[in-house]
Amino acid sequence: MVTAAEVAKLSPTLARATGGFVGVQKFAPTGAGPCNRRMYEACTTCGERFIPQYAYQVASLPTTAGEAPRRQYFCQLTCRRAALGEVSHAVRRARRIAILNQKGGTGKTTTAINLAAGLAERGLETLLIDTDAQGNVGASLGVKGERSLYHVIVDGADPAEVAVPIRGRLDVITADATLAAAEVWLARRDQDRDRVLSQRMGLAHRRYQYVILDCAPSLSLLNQNALTYADEVLIPVSCDYLSLVGVKQVLKTLKDIERHLGHSVRIAGVLPTFFDSRIRLAREALETLRGHFRDKLMDPIRRSTRLAEAPSHRQSIFEYDGESPGADDYRRVVERVLERESVTAAPTARRSDSSSTHFEPASLE
Ligand SMILES: Nc1ncnc2c1ncn2[C@@H]1O[C@H](COP(=O)(O)OP(=O)(O)OP(=O)(O)O)[C@@H](O)[C@H]1O
Ligand SMILES: [Mg+2]
Repeated sequence: MVTAAEVAKLSPTLARATGGFVGVQKFAPTGAGPCNRRMYEACTTCGERFIPQYAYQVASLPTTAGEAPRRQYFCQLTCRRAALGEVSHAVRRARRIAILNQKGGTGKTTTAINLAAGLAERGLETLLIDTDAQGNVGASLGVKGERSLYHVIVDGADPAEVAVPIRGRLDVITADATLAAAEVWLARRDQDRDRVLSQRMGLAHRRYQYVILDCAPSLSLLNQNALTYADEVLIPVSCDYLSLVGVKQVLKTLKDIERHLGHSVRIAGVLPTFFDSRIRLAREALETLRGHFRDKLMDPIRRSTRLAEAPSHRQSIFEYDGESPGADDYRRVVERVLERESVTAAPTARRSDSSSTHFEPASLE
């Protein structure tokens, strides 16, 4: 937990607003792994030592090709501005991937957390946004931001000040029950109710290489906002019969977004979850999914106790049990997502890849 003296090193407004207390780490992680330790860093501008609490206190400078970006730390906004100017230093645009399935309990949050954690472990600057009022991302990783996505959407708070750096290169914007009020607030708007998240995020995504959005199991306005902001969608599907109905709904939603908002969202992949090869129904569901989605189908995530346990230890599967089958499965997901990076880097491959933007699966009737 940070001390009052450390809080005083944060933005003066913030320190005032919080009365000198920043409850970022509400849930204490039970593991003592290196990823969970909150480290002191030296401010690049003034040399003061402090514990970074907000995304604006961390900046990654591009380096030569192939090297991981170099991190700089700033104890206050004035120090950041002195070094980098008003605009973020980064010039690239993050890949924004929404993890979506309107059906509940298909492994969306588990996938969002472990994909984001896996990307960050590879040295990629990653922002994980919880767009679900259940707030499971924060609860699963042991973080409760002082402010949440509600403040970004309704109050127009700067996402860079709301995001909490929680592990090496992983920042999180949490959500909680107040997000339900944000949904009502969005519904009352006369116009642009689907684009508020995109507007609020502004240039924030420029400081990241990946933005991962964990979506709620609903057809909410918040989900529409997430899809309008996202370039890609990854669909976790549990290996049972009813889940196929859920995918059909997701495809319809993507078509609606394209028709009404003129924004097409590429399918990054369909991810079978809760797979148990001993169960015939699961094997059949996998085959059905393969028939429909062909090369968009990712390797399945096996049903695993370790995956179910990791959230209660406030850890990703890589921190909780990096040798488990669940960790292996999610490592494959990370690699699959990164594959596209190398494909799009090659000009000839980009043409064929873009043709998959309007991916049409075989009929799901
Ligand atoms: N492969 C798996 N094996 C075993 N348990 C899993 C697996 N994936 C997820 N779980 C567990 O199943 C439950 C539901 O998973 P999760 O919360 O990721 O689903 P969700 O789609 O986000 O749910 P919701 O629709 O409510 O947001 C959680 O308790 C999670 O720990
Ligand atoms: Mg969830």
